[in-house]
Amino acid sequence: MEAIDWKNLSFGYSKTDYNVRSWYRNGKWGELEISDSEVINMHMAATSLHYGQESFEGLKAFMGKDGKIRVFRMIENARRMQRSAAGVMMAEVPDSLFMEAVIKAVQLNKKFVPPFESGASLYIRPLLIGTGAQIGVKPADEYLFMIFVMPVGPYFKEGFKPTDLVIYRQYDRAAPLGTGTIKVGGNYAASLVAGQHAHDNGFSAVLYLDAREKKYLDECGPANFFGIKKNKYITPKSSSILPSITNMSLRQIAEDMGMEVEVRPIPVEELSEFDEIGACGTAAVISPIKRVYDADLDKEYLYGSEPGKISVQLYEKLRGIQYGTEPDPYGWTDIIE
Ligand code: PLP
Ligand code: COI
Repeated sequence: MEAIDWKNLSFGYSKTDYNVRSWYRNGKWGELEISDSEVINMHMAATSLHYGQESFEGLKAFMGKDGKIRVFRMIENARRMQRSAAGVMMAEVPDSLFMEAVIKAVQLNKKFVPPFESGASLYIRPLLIGTGAQIGVKPADEYLFMIFVMPVGPYFKEGFKPTDLVIYRQYDRAAPLGTGTIKVGGNYAASLVAGQHAHDNGFSAVLYLDAREKKYLDECGPANFFGIKKNKYITPKSSSILPSITNMSLRQIAEDMGMEVEVRPIPVEELSEFDEIGACGTAAVISPIKRVYDADLDKEYLYGSEPGKISVQLYEKLRGIQYGTEPDPYGWTDIIE
């Protein structure tokens, strides 16, 4: 294998040795299979291809300073994938199969877990797809659940350096009572044009507003939004955003740091009142934001060009738990032997 430049990894696909797969047929999940192929063989009328019957997840494994590999909150990803499956009428992957697959996929690819010093991690991508053939708009009767992994660096190439977001009112990512709260591919297809528009103009992501009224903040492309105001951690309540496991963890960490946590609608104008803001997610970790440009109103909101004090504290605590350098009082990590 070619030597990997661990320190300069970006967030992108690379081939590792093995992936794991289980097929749902005749109403039940089969044994977990190990594959060294990057290819899936499936029917051309599979429902995932035509009608978007699919869901994916994202979680990470970290090499600790103590040489132990830790996976972060995999049970939460299992539960979210079950909600996604229910949301598009797919067979649900039980907790036990999900966790067995995560553990196996990491164990089989241990040599791809980036070393502690690199600050990189192993990204774990569970995928659930309808493979059964249908041409009427109906759920499939066969599914494939699989997990593949790859070493990754930061999602936003700036890493922990603050970036710029943009607000465009002409795009929605998800409808108020649509699929925004589950992790299905259609939401990401729906975000591509807006994301490209943002990138072409030098922004790292779009900060979406609620689709119904365009009054409140929703989320930032592939990450949740949070704002810090004095001693408060404030994050949007919305029926069209993905419940982020990172955000849920940061709320707990903020509370433990003695901060007040508010989950509520955040009017766009409140952007002018925050001391610090950031995007958070598995891939994004915490990405501090230095500027939000409201393109329709030609108005900008500015934050510091360096990460804010609270964002740094939250980031360090979260990373510390993930890499095993901080205590893990809630048992968020599982060690992979
Ligand atoms: N929001 C969206 C739309 C996402 O795709 C993700 C990534 O999974 C997140 C938020 C962050 O969620 P999590 O922290 O669970 O990775
Ligand atoms: C993650 O943060 O794990 C995600 O799934 C975001 C992404 C779409 C890359």
